[in-house]
Amino acid sequence: MDDLKGKYLGQIADAADEASLEAIRLAAVGKKGEVALKMRELGKMTPEERQVAGPQLNALKDEINSALAARKASLADAALEERLRTEWLDVTLPSRPARQGTLHPISQVTEEVTAIFAEMGFAVAEGPRIDTDWYNFDALNIPSHHPARAEMDTFYMHRKDGDNRPPHVLRTHTSPVQIRTMEEMGAPLRIICPGGVYRADYDQTHTPMFHQVEGLALDRDISMANLKWVLEEFFSAYFEIDGIKTRFRASHFPFTEPSAEVDIQCSWVDGQLRIGEGDGWMEVLGSGMVHPKVIAAGGIDPEVYQGFAFGMGIDRIAMLKYGIPDLRAFFDSDLRWLRHYGFSALDTPTLHGGLSR
Ligand code: PHE
Repeated sequence: MDDLKGKYLGQIADAADEASLEAIRLAAVGKKGEVALKMRELGKMTPEERQVAGPQLNALKDEINSALAARKASLADAALEERLRTEWLDVTLPSRPARQGTLHPISQVTEEVTAIFAEMGFAVAEGPRIDTDWYNFDALNIPSHHPARAEMDTFYMHRKDGDNRPPHVLRTHTSPVQIRTMEEMGAPLRIICPGGVYRADYDQTHTPMFHQVEGLALDRDISMANLKWVLEEFFSAYFEIDGIKTRFRASHFPFTEPSAEVDIQCSWVDGQLRIGEGDGWMEVLGSGMVHPKVIAAGGIDPEVYQGFAFGMGIDRIAMLKYGIPDLRAFFDSDLRWLRHYGFSALDTPTLHGGLSR
């Protein structure tokens, strides 16, 4: 019996998998196994012999069975261990590759502005960045002797020697698109024109190229009151703050009469700018009722149609909303800056879905 015990316990300890354990079980304690055969021999024994051998055989059977069960459990543990090792997954890894590119804040803000004005029935119009001085100045009631021409720090395009026609200019504002769109579409009209403009100026708040969005609404009965409502509606939607107040200050532009510079309500708390609260004011745009001469230059009868126009810096309102301190960084193409201030290209700004996230 000691031989049997030594043999089977040894085999059990060496068994590498469940299948070999089962084979050992059948050979040892199965119906036709060695222990069962020994049990049968009990019948041939004397009662005294049987009283000794019987319990011994039963104990051997129990011992083999529990060795089998223990080995089976440890094989299962090892198998689980192995599975866990091969199926290991680092859940701290990002689930998608990091985004590679971002939308520049100017593109983002242009989209936001477009979404807001679209809701108010304004279409988007565009014009060339290189324009004639007629569209950029004359048609906007800025004749050649007018000081505004000098004030605009205009970039003039070079003409060939001997060509005495007036030079083209890099447009100094988006207002020439007013004229082009009036010519093309007539009245009534409701448009915005976002785009790049150019002036020879460079410091922390000026770059030689920057962006504006022009607004123009023409109809038979449009007044300054409509302008004020549209702008307040716009600023509340854009800054995502209800009820932002505006302040109109009398001003002068050759292409509007009357003209107003518009401020939005703000305050500074611990050196931080808060839009839409407090009793401070921040200048954000120029505006007014379109001058009759400008409406006529656009081929529309100023006796019948009137309306408002405004021009606003896109870069400037981007800085205000997203807390960007230096305008020049917009045009440095610094990837670290773009990753920090950029926007996901997949989040299209809409009024119902949220302008910015
Ligand atoms: N064109 C003006 C500028 O660049 C802004 C403006 C547009 C003012 C329309 C009034 C009306 O400063």
